[in-house]
Amino acid sequence: MSLAAEDTLAVLPQQTQLVDFRRNFPPPTPLTKEALNSALVELQNSPNLTDDLRFPRYNGSETDRVAGAMWLKQRFKSDVSEERIVLSNGTQSTALMVLAQIARPGGVLLTEELTYPAMKPLARLLGIQVHGVDMDADGLRPDALASVARKTGAKVFHCIPTFQNPTTAIMPAERRQEIAEVARMHDLQILEDDIYGVLLEDGPPPVASYAPERTWYMLGLSKSLSLQLRITYLLTPEGAVPSQYFWPATMTTNWMPAPLPTEVATKWVLDGTAARLLSSVRRETAERHLIANDVLRGIQLRSHPQCYHLWVDLPSGWSSDAFAERARRIGIFVSSTRSFAVSEASAPNKVRLGLGVPNDPGVLKVSLEALRDLMSDEPY
Ligand SMILES: Cc1ncc(COP(=O)(O)O)c(C=O)c1O
Repeated sequence: MSLAAEDTLAVLPQQTQLVDFRRNFPPPTPLTKEALNSALVELQNSPNLTDDLRFPRYNGSETDRVAGAMWLKQRFKSDVSEERIVLSNGTQSTALMVLAQIARPGGVLLTEELTYPAMKPLARLLGIQVHGVDMDADGLRPDALASVARKTGAKVFHCIPTFQNPTTAIMPAERRQEIAEVARMHDLQILEDDIYGVLLEDGPPPVASYAPERTWYMLGLSKSLSLQLRITYLLTPEGAVPSQYFWPATMTTNWMPAPLPTEVATKWVLDGTAARLLSSVRRETAERHLIANDVLRGIQLRSHPQCYHLWVDLPSGWSSDAFAERARRIGIFVSSTRSFAVSEASAPNKVRLGLGVPNDPGVLKVSLEALRDLMSDEPY
């Protein structure tokens, strides 16, 4: 047991909740609470609320989709047709609906070799095999994508081009264009997950803007505004008829986006609250980076001031699993690479930390100090 790490944690009051750095969601900001309170008061005072919420809004109402098009415009830098937008309850359920339509049982899904941990179970649920594609510092490699597509005969791939989970990689614009070309050459459909995309100010355009005819582009709100809103905007490929794809899928999955959070999301986008919230999340994330940079000085890690997860190298001798287990014993949870790795062989000796989780920056600082102390301890 690491005494140094335990001593470090001892400064926290007894009742402090254990920090679960495995989670990855935005840090709270003073505006989050204020915006939620005032949205609920306004809704409560709205004379037509009950009537407005009584009716099903399959795929989102027209106003919901107009709000979605407004939100997506910041990524595409041009108008997006609301006719192509479908709303649903979060990215996970959107991915389930899309994959159920475009990757048939027995089919193959390609993903980055380290990816969002839900992708493997999601594919298993649908009877789809998953193959990882090699990455470099810029994310998914186009040559590797072409080669695995050729070998497996896959027709779909999933990618997280901005603040990749877990590596934090940002795919440069030229790489996105190359990926789109490979997809076209191998007739691959693209499931693009841009959930962290709006966090990066003036980031490269989505892959969807280079391959609009084959990309299912998802922009969820839970990682940029607040986890309380389980709303994701899906931009369907140009030429696809959304209702054709979504009718049986919505019936068997989520019917429609939950009316109350949808009402709040639409209101926040249309009245500018969403943009203010996003700025406040970016500011709070930058503050948390100052703390992390100070505490973890000298430790190799990868991130960006607008990305609230860190991809941290462990000192030699530590395996990712061993470190996660030792951290758990002092009461801190970290994500070992096993959960992200599509194959065992691709699990490097690193851990991912979600800086947004602790409510209090003071708790964040002490917990990071304890992890730093643990890293300098003898692995066993
Ligand atoms: C890349 C990625 N996509 C999607 C999600 C989950 O999205 P949602 O909350 O919209 O279901 C996560 C959560 O960690 C994620 O990292």
